[in-house]
Amino acid sequence: MACFPTSSVCLVLLILVMGNANAQLSTNFYSSSCPKLFSTVKSTVQSAISKEARMGASLLRLFFHDCFVNGCDGSILLDDTSSFTGEKNANPNRNSARGYEVVDNIKSAVENVCPGVVSCADILAITARDSVQILGGPSWNVKLGRRDARTASQSAANNGIPPPTSSLNQLISRFSALGLSTKDLVALSGSHTIGQARCTSFRAHIYNDSNIDKSFASTRQQNCPSTSGSGDNNLAPLDLQTPTAFDNNYFKNLVQQKGLLHSDQELFNGGSTDSTVRGYSNNPNTFATDFASAMIKMGDISPLTGSKGEIRKNCRKIN
Ligand code: HEM
Ligand SMILES: *[C@@H]1O[C@H](CO)[C@@H](O)[C@H](O)[C@H]1NC(C)=O
Repeated sequence: MACFPTSSVCLVLLILVMGNANAQLSTNFYSSSCPKLFSTVKSTVQSAISKEARMGASLLRLFFHDCFVNGCDGSILLDDTSSFTGEKNANPNRNSARGYEVVDNIKSAVENVCPGVVSCADILAITARDSVQILGGPSWNVKLGRRDARTASQSAANNGIPPPTSSLNQLISRFSALGLSTKDLVALSGSHTIGQARCTSFRAHIYNDSNIDKSFASTRQQNCPSTSGSGDNNLAPLDLQTPTAFDNNYFKNLVQQKGLLHSDQELFNGGSTDSTVRGYSNNPNTFATDFASAMIKMGDISPLTGSKGEIRKNCRKIN
């Protein structure tokens, strides 16, 4: 069968071939190479969350901190060595990001059923979905086929992950730089309906900001001293009502000026995102749907595909 450059069949074939070389993520990527992948990941995530409900939040956050730094490529999982500086000690992660041991357990379980096949980057994507779903949130079909980075960047982690001191404009531009809309920003921030933050992350907000409910501020001050350096690691729930349930209470809190982080309350502070926050506070289903699509979009950030990167054997080090 001849393929003349002018024929339209040829053009279609060429586009298909090139699309393939450009490999897109797909939901059935491992369906024949690792049919037990989803059940294996899910049961390990489930047992970790049964031991400690907060772990679901910690695992979800790992995926965010992976994707926002040179794409979803498992770079956050690489350990520092004497000759390699990874992302674990970048400001947003040091003394804060957690769940690495659980990811190790998931990876070992997956290696047991299909050795050398599934990337750590994809494991993070599935783990984030399962965590949300187990804690009562929405589910979605996870796109797969990412490969693992052989590099990491502490400076990109410092510059790419927004700090809790961010203004609304700063949040919007960080997300927009990665192709995520303002609506995605608000929906994804709904992740703060689960999990905990350290005093050092919200001290300035509870002592110095005026857009905070007074009694909520004084409650949080009880376990977070004003002096920097004292009680820095004391924890408070990001959602004061149901920190282990993935629901829309985060948005209800914001409407009442009970956001824990300065950056949380920026989303409902008289600006362009107020109406979206109010909408999610009144309609849990809209939030659930928008959250799921925003998670898929976040998971699409700059994946390594085809022959780029590698399938790490151990998520903590390059092969
Ligand atoms: C919009 C910008 C965001 C900022 C400024 C931000 C900031 C933070 C901060 C400061 C903490 C507490 C860390 C600590 O004190 O140890 C935190 C926790 C958390 N963040 Fe975010 N975050 C943002 C967006 C997101 C997104 C998009 C997700 C997920 C898709 C997410 C998921 C989480 C979770 C689940 C926790 C709790 C983790 C745990 O309990 O271990 N965050 N975030
Ligand atoms: C509150 O603001 C004042 C004046 O800018 C500053 O000196 C102080 O350290 C701040 N306190 C906290 C807890 O951030």
